Amino acid sequence: MSAASSPAEYTFDNVHPEAATQLRLLGQILDGRTHDVLDPLLIAGDRCLDVGAGAGTIASWMLSKVRTGFTDLPGGVVAFDRKPIHVPPADGLTVVTGDATSHDFGDSIYNVIHARLVLMHLPDREAVLATLVRALRPGGRLVVSDWDCTQPERMLLRGSPDTITNFLAFQRALLGFAVSNGASLDWAQRLPRALEYAGLTEVRADVHSQMWRGGEPGALLHASNSVQLQQQLLDRGVELADLEQMRLALDDPATCLWQYPMVTAVGTRSVDA
Ligand SMILES: C[S@@+](CC[C@H](N)C(=O)[O-])C[C@H]1O[C@@H](n2cnc3c(N)ncnc32)[C@H](O)[C@@H]1O
Repeated sequence: MSAASSPAEYTFDNVHPEAATQLRLLGQILDGRTHDVLDPLLIAGDRCLDVGAGAGTIASWMLSKVRTGFTDLPGGVVAFDRKPIHVPPADGLTVVTGDATSHDFGDSIYNVIHARLVLMHLPDREAVLATLVRALRPGGRLVVSDWDCTQPERMLLRGSPDTITNFLAFQRALLGFAVSNGASLDWAQRLPRALEYAGLTEVRADVHSQMWRGGEPGALLHASNSVQLQQQLLDRGVELADLEQMRLALDDPATCLWQYPMVTAVGTRSVDA
């Protein structure tokens, strides 16, 4: 396997001072649900890959499942990211720096591959999906989760008129910037079909969302994103005073909002593949 030399555009940046907070909040919001999906798929001795590993919480958790003290099977996990600086090292965890859009993940290597909130950002996501399918062992499982970002106007359940206006302006600017970097806002809706098209069988999928109050992780994530992308948001016409008002509201329990719906799709590489 080779590391990539020229990463594709990505809206956020793990070297930004706010990135550790963003990735920690993602883990707090999403890891429980991801554990529920992955748990029945993992057995001791499995080889796993986490693409776009972020803070490494899922890679580390998968490692705890496949490398137990009760077996000497050589299970292990690869945490792959273009900037894996937040992934803590661990025995059995291989951290690989690379660009998923150009990386060769190999053929028939992994029992389980997980990719959360990364394919939606990649312009050539179908081609990356094909390389991930090839990297699965026959009978191996691919688990992909992405946000459905098509309806930002439905997210805020309760907030002052200023909060409603400012939150929507922030969302539109953020999502517009992400799209200009190649992200897809509706890819999540197409995920199950994309897994089937990539040749996976037994594809199933679900959608999960949750209401969050101001001050809780699902609200604070938006405030963190607005800090990390502040300059890009100002460049797209958002006013600093409006961002500051929104951040205060996102820390106020009177504010209520839905998270973006998260689509999770699971598919199996046929044993005949
Ligand atoms: C939104 S974060 C999600 C992190 C983690 N999967 C999670 O759900 O908590 C996206 C991650 O994908 C990584 N990433 C973005 N583009 C990538 C690429 N082309 N190749 C590899 N990793 C990439 C980023 O560096 C970042 O760590």
